[in-house]
Amino acid sequence: MNLITPVILMNIILFIITVLLIFAESVLVPHKICKVVINKERVFTTESGASLLSFFTKNKIFIPSACGGKATCGHCKIKVLNGGGPILPTEEVFITQKEKSAGIRLACQVKIKQDIEVYLPEHLFEAKEYQAVVEEISSLTHDIKHFTLKLLEPKTINFKPGQYIQIKVPGTEEFRAYSIASSPRQNDRIELIIRLVHGGLCSTYMHNVLEVGDKVVFTGPFGEFFLREESDKEIICIAGGCGMSPIRSIILYLAELGMPRKVTYFFGARTKKDLFYVEEMTELEKKYPNFKFIPALSEPEPEDKWEGEVGLITQVVERYLDIYMNGRYEIYLSGRYEGAGVLESYLCGPPPMIDAAIKVLTKKGVHIENVYYDKF
Ligand SMILES: Cc1cc2nc3c(=O)[nH]c(=O)nc-3n(C[C@H](O)[C@H](O)[C@H](O)COP(=O)(O)OP(=O)(O)OC[C@H]3O[C@@H](n4cnc5c(N)ncnc54)[C@H](O)[C@@H]3O)c2cc1C
Ligand code: FES
Repeated sequence: MNLITPVILMNIILFIITVLLIFAESVLVPHKICKVVINKERVFTTESGASLLSFFTKNKIFIPSACGGKATCGHCKIKVLNGGGPILPTEEVFITQKEKSAGIRLACQVKIKQDIEVYLPEHLFEAKEYQAVVEEISSLTHDIKHFTLKLLEPKTINFKPGQYIQIKVPGTEEFRAYSIASSPRQNDRIELIIRLVHGGLCSTYMHNVLEVGDKVVFTGPFGEFFLREESDKEIICIAGGCGMSPIRSIILYLAELGMPRKVTYFFGARTKKDLFYVEEMTELEKKYPNFKFIPALSEPEPEDKWEGEVGLITQVVERYLDIYMNGRYEIYLSGRYEGAGVLESYLCGPPPMIDAAIKVLTKKGVHIENVYYDKF
């Protein structure tokens, strides 16, 4: 008790000082009009004080901001050419030395305090704000729901399989990222797969508040995680939990094209009650000889009566790659055995799963430049 009291006291003092500083800044530092220049040609004026991220959102320029501005996702990176001020400790973990010297910053952390000049890649101007209506909600597992959103305005969306959108939480300025689970060929509605995070703002709203017929606002599409269509490499997909979402988009899209590439999809869950879309994937497997679906449980319950693969999904992938490397799936390109070097891989799931999967894949010879992933 005696040890804790000074710590608590110190925290209270720090909290009061922070509140006083924020209050003093808002009262004593006069707001001024600043110029924001984007790509040397778009010139805006705005009152000082807001972050670049809120400024962009207010001006309908939508950039990826998966954590809603909390400096925890690192997705809102942009190039600040002038006037951004010093880099903040909250940005340090996301920005490499090379990026630092190129002027890369987190838009949610840069406050507009003076005239500022920034550079945004042109593709970011393609992201739009969409109004949609909830057409269907269904439960996939005890904590995962499937949502279909029918677009109202604009009426269609162009995206690449694997990309994500950001849902706006009503009554707030907060956005959360959700991968699109449907094929881009269905462009008048999108499907989402969302897990309930206890105490989570957006997932609680989606699971417990949202009803069929309700309106939803989202922005997008975003993300560098998408199917490389120019490639004809054989594909390995690895997903866990809601990582199913972007992988399903990729697989449904390839299925619509007649599954032109060989795809092996490893999907990991803890127990049988955490598995979903097994039937859908098994049906695709029956229809397309090029497609193989391998679900695995890490901790099957006796009542699961599970006869499939057991273990962490990365262990299962390693076992399969061993078989592959031992020649049962020999691949020859121009007469030369290339092993796993001819594989392309798409991974989506929790960060530890992705890190472990990258280790396994590269150890077995998959080239890191052919490994694409989204961690969440
Ligand atoms: C590119 C991208 C795509 C994504 N796609 C999907 C998707 O398809 N489906 C999906 O369900 N989610 C997806 N997410 C995660 C999603 O954006 C939210 O982070 C998640 O729904 C939690 O948001 P929230 O507002 O409910 O919780 P918050 O209010 O943001 O967080 C509440 C608390 O829960 C913790 N928390 C946040 N996320 C998680 C988590 N995943 N597990 C455990 N604790 C957590 C936070 O640290 C905080 O303490 C994606 C994230 C990214 C970056
Ligand atoms: S770090 Fe997530 S929005 Fe800026």
